[in-house]
Amino acid sequence: MSGHFITFEGGEGAGKSTQIERLARRLEGQGHSVLITREPGGTPGAEAVRHVILSGHAKQLGTELEAVLFAAARSDNVQQIIKPALAAGKMVLCDRFMDSSRVYQGVSGGVDEDFLLAMERAVTEGARPDLTLIFDLPPEEGLRRAANVWKEDGPDRFESEDLSEQQARRQGFLDIAKAEPDRCRVIDATQTLEEVNQAVDTAVDGFLRTTELTDHR
Ligand code: TYD
Repeated sequence: MSGHFITFEGGEGAGKSTQIERLARRLEGQGHSVLITREPGGTPGAEAVRHVILSGHAKQLGTELEAVLFAAARSDNVQQIIKPALAAGKMVLCDRFMDSSRVYQGVSGGVDEDFLLAMERAVTEGARPDLTLIFDLPPEEGLRRAANVWKEDGPDRFESEDLSEQQARRQGFLDIAKAEPDRCRVIDATQTLEEVNQAVDTAVDGFLRTTELTDHR
């Protein structure tokens, strides 16, 4: 028995988390067993790493070691949570995964691509996403949306970074989508909530139809 692995990627403030929750309820309503996880995080160890990274304390280690920390957190999540859930036939929904490392550490962090890909292969072996939804939003709009959250929490280490960096990341995600069209679907997050819901459902239903056809062949 083998489940399906769907990841959610994109810039800040694009509404990923809301969509993951909504999609989970919908899939459960269709009889799927769903597991939600996030990165960095998902396990006690990875959540501890998340705390270290997002507090900004890992920044002084440099971008390479920060990338290693993200990979370490990912490894724990893959081994403890994602692989067992897939083996049990579950639908795994993960808020950010390997593409965030490619984009945040690679494209905007300047970490060597080969180094990142070697870690990616090692860490994700046996748990590669079947489908990746990339929530695309102009950074100005993402920042505007995120600003409402900052009023309550204050900006965290990532959200305080500047616009040109966010633009480079947006392009980084779009480049991944272009390079891997079978795996990736771009969701235009500037649309109304209704339209975004619809786009997510269309992408996921299309994916499930294709895999069911393939499974029965
Ligand atoms: P989070 O508050 O979960 O952001 P969001 O709600 O936008 O998903 O913080 C996660 C941050 O970590 C986010 O800014 C992206 C960054 N990140 C990386 O830099 N590399 C990674 O591999 C992952 C998974 C996340």
